[in-house]
Amino acid sequence: LKKITTHQLQNMKERGEKISMLTAYDYSMATILDAAGVDVLLVGDSASNVMAGHETTLPITLDQMIYHASSVMRGVNRAFVVVDLPFGSYQGNSSEALRSTIRIMKESGAHGIKLEGGAEIKDSIVRILSAGVPVMGHLGLTPQSIYKFGTYTVRAKEDAEAEKLVEDALLLQELGCFAIVLEKIPSALAKRVAETLHIPIIGIGAGPDVDGQVLVVHDMLGITKEFKPRFLRRYAELHDIMTDAVQNYVQDVKSRSFPTDKEAY
Ligand code: KIV
Ligand code: NA
Repeated sequence: LKKITTHQLQNMKERGEKISMLTAYDYSMATILDAAGVDVLLVGDSASNVMAGHETTLPITLDQMIYHASSVMRGVNRAFVVVDLPFGSYQGNSSEALRSTIRIMKESGAHGIKLEGGAEIKDSIVRILSAGVPVMGHLGLTPQSIYKFGTYTVRAKEDAEAEKLVEDALLLQELGCFAIVLEKIPSALAKRVAETLHIPIIGIGAGPDVDGQVLVVHDMLGITKEFKPRFLRRYAELHDIMTDAVQNYVQDVKSRSFPTDKEAY
């Protein structure tokens, strides 16, 4: 299996081969996902939720993202690895955005970065791309703006927000982004963007008519229990499997059936 590049992702769109993407935050999981054939691994700032237990993505720091990203990189042979610029590491100005990006690239060895927004962050995207770093856009429900939205419900249902999203997507493409994530928007709008743009559009809660799909790995493996939005398909119920395993271990320790002589020296 050859290493995935932005050029291959572009070819996949042109051939009609869908792109598979999942989040990853640590070495062990990245090893499994990479070997299983996931095309793109996203070191998402959703680590703030699923790894650190915060309610939003806002608290996670650049240092923490770099720790997760460098851990993931040690487990990857084939996948293209994208790292989220966390809240507060790029919104100030384009110099800050470039400095944060360079830290991620140098200290983790990742292949590209993702940041949330359109026209507002144009200058930052231009500078990051000028430095030779692939940039993935992210439009629709952008969780770093949760306190602006006030809710995690579907975005761009109204015409004005939908038109702004299409304009932003076109701008991101024009600037040179290699792909865009569309989160939680109507399928018809996502389809329109995927058909209008020539770069790959990766959806999460954006329906089937886009060029690829992304999910948070803890959600699709059923490690998280309560989070059950309509767009989430669970491919395993690891919460239950892990709970059973751990309960059995506790019982075996209490009852002294672990360890046996065979499990001792
Ligand atoms: O941080 C994340 O997990 C993401 C994906 C949901 C796209 O940005
Ligand atoms: Na994210």
